[in-house]
Amino acid sequence: MKDLYSSIASSYSSLAKLVFGQALSQAKVFFIEPSISKNLLIIGGGDGVDYQDFSAQLQGDYWEISSSMLDLAKQNLEQSALAFHLGDFGQPKKSGYDEVWLHFVLDTLSDLELVSFLKKVKALVKPDTLIHLVDFFPPQTLRQRVIQFAMMQFFRIATSHPRNDIPDYEQHLDSLGFEKVKEKTWKNGWIRSQMWKIKDTFPPLSE
Ligand SMILES: C[S@@+](CC[C@H](N)C(=O)[O-])C[C@H]1O[C@@H](n2cnc3c(N)ncnc32)[C@H](O)[C@@H]1O
Repeated sequence: MKDLYSSIASSYSSLAKLVFGQALSQAKVFFIEPSISKNLLIIGGGDGVDYQDFSAQLQGDYWEISSSMLDLAKQNLEQSALAFHLGDFGQPKKSGYDEVWLHFVLDTLSDLELVSFLKKVKALVKPDTLIHLVDFFPPQTLRQRVIQFAMMQFFRIATSHPRNDIPDYEQHLDSLGFEKVKEKTWKNGWIRSQMWKIKDTFPPLSE
């Protein structure tokens, strides 16, 4: 599998802080409760830098399709009890996760990939598993639109990013049977941290 993040992995977190300050880090950790022990499924966690402060409390599975990002995560989170895996998370090591962290990963997928990704996530969760979605939502101001356009062009060149827009996460999650239970927004809603779970009344996936 080609490592699409090899050219930017080592500078990814510094670049993110240069452009967004602490906003992305704050959004990732806002709903995290390190004091409560949880079986985590972290997909596309990148270099793991923003989880370093509470790495000793982390356990579960950490999946990355970029070997350079995964190598950095192993170093940054060496105090954790996470099991690190290279590849797509389609063949899980476990199931019954308490939380699934999807931090700035869904926006890197085409709509088709996103639906297939979320169906695989759904197959791994329990009725009370929380899906922690943190990502960019549609920009709210001209300045945000300009920054987002520049960012997407950069990622299209650097990582073969497949999109020119932001996915409609909420529509996809809703139609797959998830409901939003909590939300906190930054930058007028451009960046959001949300918790989702399976709707109590939704029938299981038939495929
Ligand atoms: C934009 S980066 C975000 C990294 C990190 N979550 C953060 O917030 O800094 C997206 C990451 O998702 C990873 N990724 C994309 N699709 C994936 C998949 N199907 N399974 C595992 N990792 C994936 C990429 O390799 C990349 O490291």
